Order: sequence, then structure tokens, then C-alpha cells
Amino acid sequence: MRPLNTASSPLGQALPQDSARRHVTGQADYCDDLPEPADCLHGVPVLGPPVKAKIDQIDWANVLAYPGVIAVITAADIPGENNAGGVVHDEPILPKEATGYAEQPIGLVVARTRLAARRAAKRVSIDYTAEPGPVSLEETIAAEDRLHEDLHLIQGDPDGELDRALFVTSGHIEIGGQDHVYLEGQIALAIPSHDGMHVVSSTQHPTEVQDLIAQMLLTPAASISVEVRRMGGAFGGKESQAAHIALWAALGAHTTGKAVKVRLDRDDDMRITGKRHEFWVKYQLGHDVQGQLISASFEMASRCGFSHDLSRSVNDRAVFHADNAYFLPHARIQSKRLRSATVSNTAFRGFGGPQGMMAIERGLDQIAARLAMDPLDIRLANAYGARGRTTPYGMQIEEDTLIPLMQTLAHQSDYRSRRQEIIAHNLTRPRLRRGIALTPVKFGISFTASFLNQAGALIHVYKDGSIALNHGGTEMGQGLYQKVAQVVAHVLGVSLARIQPTATRTDKVPNTSPTAASSGSDLNGMAARAAAEIIRERLTGYLQARWNTTIEPHFANDEITAGPHRISFADAARSAWFARIPLSATGHWATPEIGWDARTGKGRPFYYFAYGAAVSEVEIDCITGMPRVVRADLLHDVGESLNPMLDYGQIEGGYIQGMGWLTMEQLVYSTQGVLNTHGLSTYKIPTASDRPADLRIALWPNQNPEQMVYHSKAVGEPPLMLAISVHSAIAHAISSQGPAGWWPPLNAPATAEEVLRCLTLGASE
Ligand code: MTE
Ligand code: MOS
Repeated sequence: MRPLNTASSPLGQALPQDSARRHVTGQADYCDDLPEPADCLHGVPVLGPPVKAKIDQIDWANVLAYPGVIAVITAADIPGENNAGGVVHDEPILPKEATGYAEQPIGLVVARTRLAARRAAKRVSIDYTAEPGPVSLEETIAAEDRLHEDLHLIQGDPDGELDRALFVTSGHIEIGGQDHVYLEGQIALAIPSHDGMHVVSSTQHPTEVQDLIAQMLLTPAASISVEVRRMGGAFGGKESQAAHIALWAALGAHTTGKAVKVRLDRDDDMRITGKRHEFWVKYQLGHDVQGQLISASFEMASRCGFSHDLSRSVNDRAVFHADNAYFLPHARIQSKRLRSATVSNTAFRGFGGPQGMMAIERGLDQIAARLAMDPLDIRLANAYGARGRTTPYGMQIEEDTLIPLMQTLAHQSDYRSRRQEIIAHNLTRPRLRRGIALTPVKFGISFTASFLNQAGALIHVYKDGSIALNHGGTEMGQGLYQKVAQVVAHVLGVSLARIQPTATRTDKVPNTSPTAASSGSDLNGMAARAAAEIIRERLTGYLQARWNTTIEPHFANDEITAGPHRISFADAARSAWFARIPLSATGHWATPEIGWDARTGKGRPFYYFAYGAAVSEVEIDCITGMPRVVRADLLHDVGESLNPMLDYGQIEGGYIQGMGWLTMEQLVYSTQGVLNTHGLSTYKIPTASDRPADLRIALWPNQNPEQMVYHSKAVGEPPLMLAISVHSAIAHAISSQGPAGWWPPLNAPATAEEVLRCLTLGASE
């Protein structure tokens, strides 16, 4: 059921991403494919000492002498503020006296070719004094250097109830980071002009890039325009981190007066850009003999890196997802945000939510083992809707989705009988052990920084009836441009072919929020809908007057009709122009009703929740430790889908990316903080062959009860957390190695080494 349904509307249709054909034929233009301006120069960052250090002296002579080198740019060349930190201004564009982490860039070589700049950059000679800081998660926790104050959320009487509980199940879990491995690395091209500067940047946050450049150059924001047509993947890695690259390019352009492009080499990209936060979570779950939770305590610590970046919001979101899908009558969630001598960790799909959920999922599995129950029964007994509906932060869960969704999935996937079969199979202790798990996801949709929940759009209808669509959202492969075009086509009753999506630009729609928190289609879809409705109203008024009718015109099939009257959309546009009707409109959207108290953590941080659940079946090899997902059944709630094809893509991609995070992607640093896994030869990500051979994806038939774009729901991040079922299934397989009631303390990622560690533990229990 759709409020404005017309048979011909593209809304809700399974259409490919608007550039899908160009992507696969190599014809989609990314920043590096654009023709370079005349005399374009190339910048390459010069990496600093291989340990956090005080810089005593830098000798640039050999760099400058290299053929083709035009300039070396350092902090001294910055006319304004030396800051790349969007939220807290604590991250230098280029450090002056000391670095915050090993290999932090200390300058930019600008040369006629990128190769010359790269070769020259290696010839720098730096005198430094090592000032090492905490690198590993363990060292970071021991150092307890707080980036900002803890968030300490308390609901009810957690300690008293833990004391009174019949059972307390406890433990701790370590959760690794993750590199974004976007196919298109970080890149920006800055082009100076007499008006200021135009910057093409691969960024999720054009407005922040604009603001930071303006502050760096001491110029008004209006003189800087930032453009992004598409990114070759971002995953949160270009929300704040793209700014450095754009700032370097802009500083190079400002200094030399020429266009400057900075395109990071993959290894440099991995070394100097932030990643998913590593977490350590200690948990205590008080429960009864049926496994019903009474009280829960979580103590989280995360490794944030050397500066704030987005760490506050990432950790806030981790706190808001410690409950995942479960009602906690009494709860304490304490979150420590710790500084380390490593690159500043940043947004990554799920934004702390995935890390936040891991402890309770592990704990529930442990309770099930202890009570000799099926973990699914423990999960169902504790899910919101079974006993309670209030989250630890005081928000009510109004939708009744979780339990029916989990039960439907259990049924459709034959979870119960497969589980029995697997237990029987493992009893013979074969080399290949199997495991299965069903885990749910409840993910809050909205930026936790409430002011970011706004968006703008700009629509032009030209005299020939073609439509240029612009909004503040950026395209990173997720299909945002297509979804928003579908919304506008629906409102104006036109075919998609009439709509030309145009590159996101700060001089078209100003003051935009990053495309993040999965809210791109929600926010920009609503803003574009508002703009399209303004144009529809103007055309309505004009046509009603012309036709001398009060009948409400109907916009469909590229036509406008009212009773006996009929005109093509193109003719309507042309004649409205003759009648001097403005055919351009802006739209704006601000999400209502949300807000919370940052001191207590209480309130309504989210407009609504997206739900899902997954059953993963895995196989582990007890000799090599290698885990493998053999089958996965995913059932996910996208509300009334704007585009099922794009939603399926997001669900599949999110699940596989989550599987990579939890099973194989491992960041290894030297004791000094140099990232050793800075290439895909050493940092292992899932490939096509890791996709489970049997992967079944279904959409939960549901409407968003809130008024979000035609009752759809955000889909970008939530499916990543469906992969927690993989981790849980691996633990299930390992548990067969220990005595009854034992559950392995499996950390993430569950690499072969980690699986073997736990198998050994199980054998010695
Ligand atoms: N899908 C693709 N193909 N590429 C990406 O970079 N980023 C994810 C998700 N899906 C990403 C993606 C992240 S981290 C977010 S927040 C959302 O897309 C952002 O887009 P949306 O808000 O339009 O869903
Ligand atoms: Mo996504 S981590 O919110 O960019």
C-alpha cells in the first residue's frame, strides 16, 4: 500500500543503480578519470618517522632537487587554521613539531608527475626523537588516556540486581578494527580560479571539505566549491578522512597557483587513513534459570587513535547498541574513549553499532550453553516485545517486528532441524565441525548528533520538460541517486529517463550533512520530494487557471490530466515558462521528534529502527582452523522498499563486509605503530569465492510506521550486523570441542589462528 500509488510510477521498482552499466563497462567517471586541467600538478604526502615522534629537523634538499619537483609544502605554508578535524579541531593538516602516530604525513611534494612526486618523497631526511605512545588495544587500555569524558548510562539498579540475580554470566571480548578497502582510493583535485577554488573530492561530506579548506585558506566558504559525482566506495572511510587529501590538494593549489591532484597510493591510503575502532568489552549478565535477563553491565573501551575525529559519535552509537535487540530491565553501560598513538579511527559502516552488539550476543550464547538451551530460545525470550519495550536510553520500541521476523526466519531456514543435525554431526568429533546461529539486528536510524538530520535538494525543470535533480547526498555505489530520482519521478508523474541526476556540489545545495548513518535516501529523498511537490503545485495552479477547472490534476505517465484536459509534461513545462511560472525549486527536510541528553544518554536518539536477522551455517577445519560460511539465510526489514534490487545489493554487500570484519580482516601493527598489513597481499578481505555458495535473501514485508519516504527504511548499514551470526556460528562449531556447557571466548576476527586458540582451550577444559 502506497499513498500516491500509480501503476506507471518507478517508485518501488527493482531498477539497477543509475550508473550500473557505466560501472561494469568502465565508463563511469571517477575523480581520476576527469580530464586534467592544463599544467595540473601532482601531490604526494611525505610520510613521517616510523614511530610517533618529535620532529627535530627536516632536510628537504634532496626532495627539491629531484627532477620535476615544483614545491614542498609544509605546515608553514598554511595561511589560516592548520586543522583537518571536523568536530573537534585537534587534527593538524600537516603537523609542525610532532607527529601523533607512526608515518603521519609531514609534508606534501608537488611535482609535474605523480611518479616524480612519489620518488622524491622517499628522499626526505628527518631528524626526530621517538616519543612512543600506546599502540595495541592492551597498551591503550593500560594508558587510560581519555580523549573525552566517558558516557555512563544507567537504567534502574544494575548493581543491586546483579547481586540479587540467580546467575551471572560474564566475560570479555576483544573486537578488531577494519580497513575500508574502497576500490577507489582517497583522491582530490583542486582547481584555483579568480573566484576562489573548485575542488573535486571523493568525499561523503562535501560541506566539511569546503569548510575546512575555507578555514585553512582564510577565505569565505562561498569562494570554495566542492563537487563529487560518485565515489568508488566509501563505507564511512570518506566521511571525515577525505578532508586531509582535499586539504593537501587545495593547499598545493593555493601555494603554486596551479591545479593540484592528490591521489593516494593504496599502501599509503591504508597507512594514513583511519579505520573501524577496535573495542574491548567486559560484560556481566544477570539472569534467571530460563535465561531471562534481569540486569546487564557493559564496560567498553575503544581505541580511537591520536585525535577525536568522529570517535564521540561512534562510541555513543556503540552504547546505544549494547542492548542490540534485547530488553534489559536494569543496565549499566560505560564507554571509555581512549587515545592511542595510531591513526585516528573513524566511521565504518555501522559506526560503532556492530562493536556495541557483539558482547550481548556472545553473552546470550554463553547463557544458552550454561543452561543447555537453544540460543534462539534465549534470544526470543529476551527480544523487545517479549517482556519489555524500553531501551536503556529510555526510548520506546513501538514496532512489533523483531520476534515475528526471527520466528519466520527460523522457520524458513529450517533452523531447528539443521541445528539438531549439526549437533549430531559434531558428536562424532569429525575434522570438519559445523555450527549454526540465528542472530537479530535492531539498528537505530538517525545521526546521533541530532542537528545533522537535515537535507536540501534543488530541482530544475527545463523548457523541454527535462529535469535536473540535485541534492546534498553523495553517491558511493549504494544507489542513492537512483532512489531519489525514483521519488521525484513519482511525485511529478514522469519517467526516470526525464530525470538527470547531477553531481553533488556545495554551490548547488549548501550546508549539507555527510551522506552517512544510512540516512541518505531518508533525508535527501524527503528534501527532493518537498522540492518536487513545490513544482507540482505551481504547475497545478497554472493548469487549473488555464483550463478553468478546480479538478485536481493527475501527474502520471509523463502527462498531466484533469477531467477532459490533458497535456504532456514537456508541453506543460514549456507553456508554464511562457506564462512566467518559475520551474526551479529547493526543498528541505528536518527529521522531527528526535533528541537526547548527551550527559545522561537518555532520550530519543533515533527516529525509528531497522530490523533484520540472519541464520549462518559454518564449517571449521579443526586442523587448519579455517572457517567457511556454507549457507546463509538473511531476512531484512527495509520497510516499503523504494527499490528492491538496490536493497538486495546492500543486504548482500553488508553481510559479506561484516563477515570479512569478523572472520578474516586483521590489522597488524608493529610495536612502534607502523601498520604492517598495508596492502591486499597481507590484509585479507572476502572475495567472490568467500560468498556462501548458498545465500538466500528476503525482504520482510513491512511498512515503516514513520513518515519516511513512502514508508521505506534505511538499508545502508544495518545488514552488516547480520554477519554477527557468522561469528556466533563459528563459536558454536568450536563449542563441540569442549565439555557440555562450555562456550569459547572467541574474539573477533575469528581468523584461523583465533579458531585454533579456542579449539585448544576447549580440548583442555
Ligand atoms: N554501499 C556501497 N556500494 N558503497 C559504500 O561505500 N557505504 C555504506 C552504505 N552502503 C557504502 C554502501 C555506508 S557506511 C553508509 S552510511 C550508507 O551506505 C550511506 O548511504 P545511504 O545513507 O544512502 O544508505
Ligand atoms: Mo556510514 S559509517 O555512516 O558512512
